[in-house]
Amino acid sequence: MSEITESTPESGLEASREASREAATDMATEVSREAATEAATDTAKVLPLLVAPDPLLRKRSEPVAAVDDAVRQLMHNLVKTMHAEGGIGLAAPQAGIHRRVIVVDVEAEDGGTGYPLRLANPELKQVSADKVGHSEGCLSVPELTAEIFRSAEVTVAYLDESGTAQEITASGLFAACLQHEIDHLNGVLFFDHLGAVRREMIIRRLKKRKRELEGKSESSAGTGGKESARAGAPLL
Ligand code: NI
Repeated sequence: MSEITESTPESGLEASREASREAATDMATEVSREAATEAATDTAKVLPLLVAPDPLLRKRSEPVAAVDDAVRQLMHNLVKTMHAEGGIGLAAPQAGIHRRVIVVDVEAEDGGTGYPLRLANPELKQVSADKVGHSEGCLSVPELTAEIFRSAEVTVAYLDESGTAQEITASGLFAACLQHEIDHLNGVLFFDHLGAVRREMIIRRLKKRKRELEGKSESSAGTGGKESARAGAPLL
């Protein structure tokens, strides 16, 4: 009996010691995970972006075979570039890298965490029939924005940065952004969704801008992303 009464608090103590050891291990794992993310982010580079009408923006991107360190580095570089340019989404081909990798930094309507989202081989699994218009800009289409109608809700399957298969259902601007970035992987730009007249007008303006920039020094050329951001439309 005395053995039991003695051993009970001890095993209780043992259990709580174990619990706190486990918590400490969890914390250590969390810290080292965070440190690893930070280290990778520290080595991230801001990539130069292609500007329409560059024909490389029309090339289809290839799927990644696996999410390896090179793909993870690409994801980090894209996030850093997206943030540096004031965008809320970016696709690898915009940096001239024709791999099916995108990043998105839109707060989910349910306040989901873990953003920016890094997606490899994203695929539209479900798209709602009802469409909704959002004003869209694009880091590769400087100074021009348009209201684009897209599926109001989409479900996207993808590989996350650890290579795990995931699925996400999004609505609102988040859904528009996912569709816009997946379009980039297929060589599609937002103004392709417009009627012929407006699309031609945008293409003419882009060509004119390119000619003007070619007449100026390289230093004055840029994506113009910040100017568009000032115009109010999100840059996808
Ligand atoms: Ni874009």
